[in-house]
Amino acid sequence: MRFSQLFVQTLRETPSDAEVASHQLLARAGYIMKLASGIYSYTPLMLRVLQKVSNIVRDEMNKAGAQELLMPILQPADLWEESGRWALYGKELLRLKDRHDRELALAPTHEEVITSLARANLKSYKQLPVNLYQIQNKYRDEPRPRFGLLRGREFIMKDAYSFHSNQACLEREYDVMAEAYTAIFERCGLKTVMVRSDSGAIGGAVSHEFMLLTGNQPEGQQSGENDVVFAEDENGNMIYAANIEKAESRLERPVIDGAEWHGFQKYKEPTLIDTPKTDSIDKLCEFLDCLPWHICKTLVYVTDTGHKLAVMIRGDYEVEETKLKNLLKCNELRMATEAELHDWLGTKKGFVGFASDGLCFKSDDIRNPAFILDATSIIMDESVRHLKHFLIADNVPHKHWVGAHFNDATLALPFVDIRKVKEGDLCPVQDYKHLPLKITRGIEVGNIFQLGTKYSEAMKAMFADENGTEQPFIMGCYGIGVSRVAASAVERFHDADGILWPPAIAPYTLVIVPANTKDEVQSALAERLYKEALAAGWEVLLDDRDQRAGVKFKDADLLGFPLRVTVGKKAVEGLVEVKRRDLKESQDLPADGDLFDKLKALLAGWNPALS
Ligand SMILES: Nc1ncnc2c1ncn2[C@@H]1O[C@H](COP(=O)(O)OP(=O)(O)O)[C@@H](O)[C@H]1O
Ligand SMILES: [Mg+2]
Repeated sequence: MRFSQLFVQTLRETPSDAEVASHQLLARAGYIMKLASGIYSYTPLMLRVLQKVSNIVRDEMNKAGAQELLMPILQPADLWEESGRWALYGKELLRLKDRHDRELALAPTHEEVITSLARANLKSYKQLPVNLYQIQNKYRDEPRPRFGLLRGREFIMKDAYSFHSNQACLEREYDVMAEAYTAIFERCGLKTVMVRSDSGAIGGAVSHEFMLLTGNQPEGQQSGENDVVFAEDENGNMIYAANIEKAESRLERPVIDGAEWHGFQKYKEPTLIDTPKTDSIDKLCEFLDCLPWHICKTLVYVTDTGHKLAVMIRGDYEVEETKLKNLLKCNELRMATEAELHDWLGTKKGFVGFASDGLCFKSDDIRNPAFILDATSIIMDESVRHLKHFLIADNVPHKHWVGAHFNDATLALPFVDIRKVKEGDLCPVQDYKHLPLKITRGIEVGNIFQLGTKYSEAMKAMFADENGTEQPFIMGCYGIGVSRVAASAVERFHDADGILWPPAIAPYTLVIVPANTKDEVQSALAERLYKEALAAGWEVLLDDRDQRAGVKFKDADLLGFPLRVTVGKKAVEGLVEVKRRDLKESQDLPADGDLFDKLKALLAGWNPALS
């Protein structure tokens, strides 16, 4: 390709809505052009990158035994009614009507279509297992499309679905996919971590995400939208890794006795004391000079079905709402508003607590009949199980009890894990319980999921087993955000001058730059090298533009080609200047028959996945 003919326009300015490096650089370098929020055109250079990522994905999926197909994006609502998701999917599903007023959706994912395909075509256990995949656009009306290609409303996904006659077979395929995924990302230059992930309200399902860790990015430019909890052993091996929505931990100090707090000495007996204006844990700690873990915090939530509940958790922890939602099997959850706290409990934010309603320690004094609390309406996090002589509110504004303890009825309630893991908690893995957990940020580039029979049961997709009995398919599904992978590579590999594409997914591997196109020696040599490179199978761009050398160098750096060969003044001596994008130093090499072998060797030395 000749640069003079290339359809690309680099920008001087970074678009104002671009917060993270990949969005800024892909837009500035002319790889993407925004059409509407979360919707982009991919220019020819970008398409080359996406095709390279897709081909790596395709290659590894095929090697793993999966088969490529292509399913419709435009899907009738009836199909989504069958799975129950027409009602459940919410606003993220883009819905439309055709001329006959029939409702349709633009696919955010393809479980429904693939399940209907399996239902029609797979009849016997003898046809199983099967793994089918496609690479195409997906549509999600994201509440916050942002970060360019990292979170779009239209984006490219590879989605695969496997069908099995038994769980063991699904688990084998799951491992095969996990391996293929690691290989795919590594070939794209990305070292990923496989983390346990939340599977939503379908209890028991196993799922993992592949995360590109981005914790070392500067504050304010953190492109990873996930918190990843992990523990490493002394040798840096990852012993535990989980999305924070799923992560579990051991409490660093499970038993806390408030009697250790110096203020307790004054009271001895449970006492309701004045704590004016202490409507947060921080303010209460400051006022009483105690620590957050001396406090039993109570939070009131309301589910999408209007169920009210109170959550008790130690003051030094936050609630992980995903865990709470899964426990309650609800889709949406919110904290009670100030007005609701007033109406239901006669209290204010910061002073919610049930010291005296029979759950804590004064069982005879039920002060809040309006807020009926039964065992399902109160949820106790494990962190409060061994709390003694603690501080707790009692729905009386500006007062707290000190020295409270739970009565036997309360201690008989189940204690559950709904807390958000925090740094310094201990690793939950047996044999590694001493390791402290750390938290970093990550971009989810892929997701694998043991679906089980959720869709096959709902959609009556059955096969005949060995005994001729009809059984629902056991399914797995496996996604990779192809466009997100490309953007993630930019997040991971860039500098102040531009992108550093990992060679395997660069739009062109090599750019040849005649420093002065008016110089006949230079342009003749550049032209010759360009033809030789093409003949040798290089993906090469010749920057034949009549521009100053500095402009061409800037563009080459911004666009991020792994190798640059500059044909400059030394062309008369038969020398060219070779520079690898990730190295500071360039070198002069003779422009003879060996040049391309040397370039190949130089390129091979750059293994971004390991750097
Ligand atoms: N809005 C988006 N923009 C770009 N890529 C996305 C988007 N949503 C999901 N992906 C990619 O597709 C993969 C599979 O999607 P999935 O796991 O179903 O999405 P989510 O985790 O958002 O529910 C994700 O791992 C991610 O790489
Ligand atoms: Mg996911």
